[in-house]
Amino acid sequence: MDPINAKLQEEIKVQEQKSPEMIDQIPVVTQLADIYLDTNGSLKEVHERRYLNCIKRFEQIYEQKPEFFIRAPGRANIIGEHIDYCGYSVLPFALEQDFLIAYAKSPKDELRINNIDMALFPEEILETDPYQKMREETSWINYFLAGYKAVMTSKESEAAIKAGQKPTGMKIFIDSVVPMEAGVSSSAAFVVSSATLALHANNLVDSIDKNKLAKYVIEGEKLVGTATGGMDQTISIMAEMGQAKYIEFNPKIACHSTPIPEGYTFVIANSLTPSSKVATLTTRYNKRVVECRIATILLAMAFDNEHDITSSKSCPYKTLYELQHANGWDNDTVLDHINSKLKKGGYSKSDLEEALNSNSIVGDLNDIEHIYEVWQNNVRFHIFERAYHVLNEVKRVEQFRAICLEQSVSNEEKGEKLGQLMNESHESLKTYYECSSIELDELTQLCRESGAIGSRVTGAGWGGC
Ligand code: GLA
Repeated sequence: MDPINAKLQEEIKVQEQKSPEMIDQIPVVTQLADIYLDTNGSLKEVHERRYLNCIKRFEQIYEQKPEFFIRAPGRANIIGEHIDYCGYSVLPFALEQDFLIAYAKSPKDELRINNIDMALFPEEILETDPYQKMREETSWINYFLAGYKAVMTSKESEAAIKAGQKPTGMKIFIDSVVPMEAGVSSSAAFVVSSATLALHANNLVDSIDKNKLAKYVIEGEKLVGTATGGMDQTISIMAEMGQAKYIEFNPKIACHSTPIPEGYTFVIANSLTPSSKVATLTTRYNKRVVECRIATILLAMAFDNEHDITSSKSCPYKTLYELQHANGWDNDTVLDHINSKLKKGGYSKSDLEEALNSNSIVGDLNDIEHIYEVWQNNVRFHIFERAYHVLNEVKRVEQFRAICLEQSVSNEEKGEKLGQLMNESHESLKTYYECSSIELDELTQLCRESGAIGSRVTGAGWGGC
């Protein structure tokens, strides 16, 4: 283990002994002040007004008051971009901006759903059937369905239904203030709040804790088509006020609070160029997932000591993390392998078929959402460049966390180093991952010139914040 990693592991243990973090139940609160406090410890009026407005709108539509509210926040990721689906840890925090769902149970076997923006999102009436089909790809209600189905098709829900409990009908009103297509996870906030709604309305709060919910929702969001890694859903469920969370996905999901040095502020600036993950899946997000998987297979074929891997078909590893840890490699060993084995400048499809010894890459990787379209819609795959970013970003996350936990260094010195890591992350996302944009490069540069100690794209990129 390299020294920085050893130190990090040691610090993590010390922290955990001090405050073991329970992965626990979804909290139910009875006053807004339990959720929205400003730095003086008082409730911001704007939140109260928003809830009152929701009640008013709910009454106008349904002629009764809502019985409960459900909420789930958006997020910003501080560092660790495009590495969660490779199995590696990330460092996000939740935003105050959230998805809000007001609801009341209904005697009818239906889910009547209204949105505060009725023009953009007109009323939908769904069946309560957990196994109903998703709608056509562009429909906004798919995010609701993804969350609903994630919980309602779980084994806990199936057991309740088998024991005679019918899925509850509901009257629903949605109000989100998480900016859409801005890289701050409005989609995860929508899916998580819908899943939590299903959980609460169907009395599953005692049987599905935060950890299980995160697992279900990560799988659920894949129904929308994104081969998502899990960061957004996990932080939306596990976040705590004022805390950044170091999220591990292996061997299981675990969140650790990470103290950001005092005296620094994160400014989340929107480039105002929208970045729709779903509309561009096959050439952007899911393509990156495929490129990272191919990197894993090529490295496994060349260096794995555990199995005899001769083709993409026979590769048991789904992530670079799994391959790395099965072989006990440290980060620099993986980087050496990436440098020595993977070709710079991209592979054509026939190059890949040959390198992976495969007659059907689509068939071999058929667990990745929209793999067929990814294969059809692209001509070159940049395997070295993506893997090179991933491993260096993994190192940056570890360094970032180690600096935050370091006690003998001044806040000023810490700030400088953290800012530098954020700048390096942006450069790598721009150059090797190719997921920045002209506007994001300009905005991050403007931030640096205006006094930011570091600036980078947050979230998937190609626009947004
Ligand atoms: C999106 C995905 C996440 C993560 C980021 C990039 O937000 O939903 O799982 O991959 O992109 O870091």
